[in-house]
Amino acid sequence: MRKLTYFIACSIDGFIGDPDGDATSMLRFVDEEFLAFLKAEYPETAATQGRRALGFDDLPNKRFDTVVQGRGSYELALKEGITSPYAHLREYVASSTLKEAPDPNVEIIADDLVGKIRELKAEEGDFGIYLCGGSKLAGELRDEIDELVIKTYPLVYGTGMPMFGSGFAISDFTLESVRTFGNGLLVRTYSRKR
Ligand SMILES: NC(=O)c1ccc[n+]([C@@H]2O[C@H](COP(=O)([O-])OP(=O)(O)OC[C@H]3O[C@@H](n4cnc5c(N)ncnc54)[C@H](OP(=O)(O)O)[C@@H]3O)[C@@H](O)[C@H]2O)c1
Repeated sequence: MRKLTYFIACSIDGFIGDPDGDATSMLRFVDEEFLAFLKAEYPETAATQGRRALGFDDLPNKRFDTVVQGRGSYELALKEGITSPYAHLREYVASSTLKEAPDPNVEIIADDLVGKIRELKAEEGDFGIYLCGGSKLAGELRDEIDELVIKTYPLVYGTGMPMFGSGFAISDFTLESVRTFGNGLLVRTYSRKR
């Protein structure tokens, strides 16, 4: 069974961006130490353009071969004219309004989102599925998530876009590892208790 991993950047108080989802205030913490970690452990979680700009476009995928995004997150790339933001992965975009995939590497999931995710998880293979976000999609898929990798930036937002755009429900997770960085960034990995 392949894992669905929600790999996400958030503030200390659990927001993935400002009320509109903008997370650019976190970017200044992406320093040499964090970049080395990203390149060594999660190179495929950086978008293709970013990988190119930072000179690690040629690094092989380490953990994931598939990415799932909501239309809201995907649209950020589309607005920049980028139709395949994770060209090094198989890309799935959940949307009931995008009638046609804007890129041959992108497949639209228009209905039965959970069924499609279960189908992907049931595939053979050593690589997992990267749940990129955003908030609404993660809320819809909360029960399907097997692993959380939470990058916590040393910032308090007070309010903003929550990690899960869904209602109240308690899910149990086990802390697997914590990695701390000199600039105050923290990466915690949790596995779901089933
Ligand atoms: N901090 C981080 O690491 C991080 C990572 C990713 C994203 N973000 C932020 O998250 C924000 C976007 O989040 P968001 O919550 O607004 O949007 P989102 O979750 O990316 O996308 C929501 C859209 O996904 C589609 N969708 C969701 N559930 C579906 C289902 N069951 N079936 C079919 N389609 C479904 C719908 O599209 P339709 O309306 O087309 O039906 C829905 O409007 C962005 O601003 C981005 O910056 C932050």
